[in-house]
Amino acid sequence: MEKVETMLAEKEPGTPQAPEFYVRFNVRQRLEHFFVMFLFLVLAVTGLPQKFYQASWAQWIILFLGGIDWVRIIHRVSGILFAFLGVVHLGMILVGVLLGRIKPILIPTLKDFRDAVQQLRYHVGLTDEHPRFERYDYKQKFEYWGLVFGGMVMITTGFILYLPNLATRYLTGELIPAAKVAHSNEGLLAFLVVIIWHMYGTHFNPDVFPMDTSIFTGKISRERMLHEHPLELLRISAGSPEEMEPGRDGAHEQRATASPAAERQSANAPDRAKEITPG
Ligand code: HEM
Repeated sequence: MEKVETMLAEKEPGTPQAPEFYVRFNVRQRLEHFFVMFLFLVLAVTGLPQKFYQASWAQWIILFLGGIDWVRIIHRVSGILFAFLGVVHLGMILVGVLLGRIKPILIPTLKDFRDAVQQLRYHVGLTDEHPRFERYDYKQKFEYWGLVFGGMVMITTGFILYLPNLATRYLTGELIPAAKVAHSNEGLLAFLVVIIWHMYGTHFNPDVFPMDTSIFTGKISRERMLHEHPLELLRISAGSPEEMEPGRDGAHEQRATASPAAERQSANAPDRAKEITPG
């Protein structure tokens, strides 16, 4: 990491003090995460007891929520809201990308595959160089797309179970039991992924323990930027905050927290991020 610090010093000449925190998530992203988190929890708490209805814990939850009819109503209503959130999210991204306001930086690139291999080599001791990441590393991208595709499966199969008469008017009836198996097992898989993978990454990972608060506060420390997103920090310091995923809003928030040197440079500097060779 020393190398990055040297490069930063070169890019921020005479900077008395670099900012302590950077804006990582804007208000829209924080709200989206809050609603996904809340709805996912409600869906898991009302879905899994239906799958494991014979277990005593499942029966306790069902009785606590007022009986199976209430559990099913809560599950369906939160399912509809979850689907609405997904459509709004993807719709906004699509429109933003088509209008050129958002760069689709969560799309995996060749560098992500190279990073994954390099990290593996690093962990087994074949190299001393840890891969250096931009705004999102390959694991974060993988998790995002897992949520998108897993969400699509849950929403499609959920609506087939919700409206079986409508579904079978156009499609074969065999789809109903197939949708039930897919919904049930994918629901369990999604729950396990969140409990094991997401909880490790955001709570138990020694880098962030006891909790990564950035998705709630919107801020990330310079120390973590240096450690986890050094290429992004270099880019921001080079005065190119426009690469920010959420589009212009996020870019301006980021600019507000960038160092004075970066501010000076951004006025007429060319895109120096291009000079930074990844990893
Ligand atoms: C990630 C979110 C979701 C999870 C974790 C989840 C989980 C589950 C689980 C485990 C079951 C029980 C399946 C079984 O009996 O084996 C279930 C049933 C069901 N889910 Fe979901 N689900 C989710 C999203 C949705 C969505 C978006 C809808 C759409 C409205 C939906 C509608 C249903 C319906 C209709 C049932 C059948 C039970 C009933 O008639 O109420 N689910 N879900």
